[in-house]
Amino acid sequence: MPGDKSISHRTALLGALAEGRTHIRRFLASDDCFATIDAIRALGVECRVTEESPGLATVEIDGVGLHGLTEPADVIDVRNSGTTGRLLSGILAGQPFHSVITGDASLRTRPFGRVVEPLREMGAKLTAREDDTLLPLTIDGGALHGIRYRLPVASAQVKSAVLLAGLFAEGETIVEEPLATRDHTERLLRTMGADLKREGPGVKLQPPDRLAPLDLEVPGDLSTAAFWLVAAAAHPDAEIDLPKVGVNPTRTGLLDILSEMGAQIDIGEERIVGGEPVADIHIKSSQLRGIEVGGELVLRAMDEMPALAVAAAFAEGRTVVRDAEELRVKESDRISALVSQMKKLGVAIEEQADGFIIEGGQALRGAPVTGAGDHRLTMSLAVAGLLADGETEIEDEDSVAISYPGFWEELGKLAAG
Ligand code: S3P
Repeated sequence: MPGDKSISHRTALLGALAEGRTHIRRFLASDDCFATIDAIRALGVECRVTEESPGLATVEIDGVGLHGLTEPADVIDVRNSGTTGRLLSGILAGQPFHSVITGDASLRTRPFGRVVEPLREMGAKLTAREDDTLLPLTIDGGALHGIRYRLPVASAQVKSAVLLAGLFAEGETIVEEPLATRDHTERLLRTMGADLKREGPGVKLQPPDRLAPLDLEVPGDLSTAAFWLVAAAAHPDAEIDLPKVGVNPTRTGLLDILSEMGAQIDIGEERIVGGEPVADIHIKSSQLRGIEVGGELVLRAMDEMPALAVAAAFAEGRTVVRDAEELRVKESDRISALVSQMKKLGVAIEEQADGFIIEGGQALRGAPVTGAGDHRLTMSLAVAGLLADGETEIEDEDSVAISYPGFWEELGKLAAG
């Protein structure tokens, strides 16, 4: 399995801020993570990437310390990567220089006001397009003070941006979240020696004098494993082993949902890799049944909702997904894109403001569909196409390189096997 995308981004950004050399194994060598590598290089950080196989790299970063970044000579283009854009905003807010972040056409429609607001409150000057909500974003940072911030939307990217700015602030920074979001930033900061404590519904960070470099292996990405989990569970005769997959409880919503749907999943013994729990996962063909999901379970599976929709199409009965309005501001409007493309494959799916309803159990028929430039939508449609009768042709297939460059090759091997 390729390394986890969220963790790979964070190891590169934090490695840049450490004092000394960081070594990362199983770094996700994908377009999104290269956007992060390019960004730290633009800030004067040296780093070497050795690609071992498609999607897998070893990375060495010569950290410049908390005060060693230099002003970028140009606009930083983070392309399709929301994680790079938002986390980098937090770091740049703490720098005594001018910087500008932009992204591709998709990212330039996604909300950035959610990071502008707390970073301004900490003392940075930020301006952005459309009333300070959309990229490009200009940042004149420095002289920050810690704040107590309650996230209006449960977002790990915003939480991380505020914590990263907190590294450069005077006084402590506290971030409270309505529901627990992924905590990879907190785990890595602790590994690097930062004083970070859980405090009720929040986390409290004391600004450190220095961060120690990292030496770790990135766990396999459960969000990537999701496509194979669904493919195996919905296929009439399949069995798949997924070794060393990250099972951080803030990310395992899909495992819980699939289990409740009747999937035969075996999760092996947990161990710690790179400060994160990992396990080997075994899954086989299963009789799935529809389910109603919402709340924190959906938050813990937000990125896996497109894959879940495919499982729901093959389940007996109705599946209802609620509280998933954030899907509308991902790499595409994943609710409307899923509904329009799944319908083409014959899925009985109905759009809701905050999710969708699927009447499962009807045979899918192959059809021409589009992934709308969205990697997770494309991979979900590929799994649906694999299981449908007849041929499915997917437009925009290259977007898989955003998180899983080896996807088509792996799919070919599985289908042949
Ligand atoms: C991510 C957080 C989530 C997730 C995204 C990656 C991260 O986004 O959907 O794919 O690495 O922090 P939000 O913070 O917008 O919820």
